[in-house]
Amino acid sequence: MIANRRLPMNTLPNRTTLTGESILVLDFGSQYAQLIARRVREQNVFCEIVRNDISADRVLELNPKGLILSGGPSSVYESQAPQCDPKIFQLGLPVLGICYGMQLACQALGSDIDAGTAREYGRISLHISPGTNPLFANISEQTTVWMSHGDQVLNLGKEFVSLGTTPTCPFAAVKHQTLPVYGLQFHPEVTHTPDGSTILHNFLHQVCQCQGNWKMDSFAETTIEGIKEKVGNRRVICGLSGGVDSAVTAALLDRAIGKQLICILVDNGLLRQGEVELVTDTFNQHFKTDLHVSDAADRFLKALDSVVDPQEKRRIIGHSFIDVFREEAEPYSDAEFLAQGTLYPDVIESGASADGPAATIKLHHNVGGLPEELGLTLVEPLRDLFKDEVRRLGSRLGLPDEMIWRHPFPGPGLAVRCLGAVTRDRLERLRLADAIVVEEIRRAKLYRQTSQVFAVLLPVQSVGVMGDARTYSEVIAIRAVETEDFMTADWVRLPYEVLAVISSRIINEVPDTSRVVYDISSKPPATIEWE
Ligand code: XMP
Repeated sequence: MIANRRLPMNTLPNRTTLTGESILVLDFGSQYAQLIARRVREQNVFCEIVRNDISADRVLELNPKGLILSGGPSSVYESQAPQCDPKIFQLGLPVLGICYGMQLACQALGSDIDAGTAREYGRISLHISPGTNPLFANISEQTTVWMSHGDQVLNLGKEFVSLGTTPTCPFAAVKHQTLPVYGLQFHPEVTHTPDGSTILHNFLHQVCQCQGNWKMDSFAETTIEGIKEKVGNRRVICGLSGGVDSAVTAALLDRAIGKQLICILVDNGLLRQGEVELVTDTFNQHFKTDLHVSDAADRFLKALDSVVDPQEKRRIIGHSFIDVFREEAEPYSDAEFLAQGTLYPDVIESGASADGPAATIKLHHNVGGLPEELGLTLVEPLRDLFKDEVRRLGSRLGLPDEMIWRHPFPGPGLAVRCLGAVTRDRLERLRLADAIVVEEIRRAKLYRQTSQVFAVLLPVQSVGVMGDARTYSEVIAIRAVETEDFMTADWVRLPYEVLAVISSRIINEVPDTSRVVYDISSKPPATIEWE
């Protein structure tokens, strides 16, 4: 269940950590492993995720300042439960076990774990035991923590002491008597634990003695080094989409291998207004390599003719993309790698993480079959990052704000926002409406505060009256969401005045439109896109 996740780029053998200061997160299949890594990076400490069964010898080679054992969905007493090399506890390195990671550490060092009589989920009050412990420095005796567990340590044994209790968990925080091994039954990495970042800060700075001088620059340098090492003097093809993820991926590759990079933008006729021009301009100004733009709109629209089923649309677009891309890539038969701007939420939502509990929600990996089709090896340098981290990275790499802050756009493009048949005429109306929405949101200075804003064209006709005539035309929906990670999202409370301007402009400027509606659904249960 845990074993076959591909290792992140920066766990390539012989990588060089430029600061010499890093933390390793051992991943036991937690949906929060990346969040833990992100929280560590937020404290300016380099962090990488490694497999749960990394050997103690390899840990020594990587020379981290400390280890964090993630949570996970298993029970430590099950026969198939993911384990770690028990020797890692004897390396003298600080270890912080979180939830499953705590239970595993305690079990390995003499405690008994069992299914607790009272499961704990949600916000719980933690009482911190009197006495000073560096892990809880600057935290008051009573604090709220986020729990999500059924199992717990039942008998702590002689080797550990309890540092904190909740009403039903006597060992909610523990410390080994002689080794620098700590355990937390709760999750310090989630925002529902208000003192979580202080606890992690204490672990990193007070227990592990980290200096905290890592910056996004270092990630860029380390990743560029990793790409150079992996790619050598071979060639890499990178598909650009107009979004920030593929642009930052291309920028990293451009810095790493320059002219060995081949960038291809497939204009599938489903892009936003001005998208091709923006990508081309950015490219000409910021990259050493050339950009090949393939005008394939006719081909995609022909393939999509009369198709209304959303999954079918995605599949057709995916296949057409592979065909076009293959043809565009043909002249570069010596290329051995394909670069993709996959981010961590994509990995989770597409169920591509072999060990995560997340189910497949949408066919996000639009180009999922591409590497196999082309016989190319994947390079995914952003696979561990969240969107806001990618933006910071893009900024460090010198990409323009307009590209960096552009709202995300799905691979299948406007097709997922053009419900019903995808025709040139309907796309044109949608593109126009979308441009108005974005323009007005920018004018109201709300673009940076919102995560994604766009128009959707519905295949629903409604009656209207324009002039003296009765109209019967399609409805445009406006979607505006705010989200940290795109896995959950809330609809934005846009000011009525802004909505009013958007609505009247769409009705006046977009042909055949007499009704505009505003989507007030959160995710879940809705998704951000309409299909
Ligand atoms: P949903 O609609 O799943 O969207 O809540 C979450 C984020 O993913 C984007 N999205 C996609 N991105 N291919 C992509 O590359 C897709 O098929 C796709 N579907 C949704 C969406 O725009 C949002 O940012």
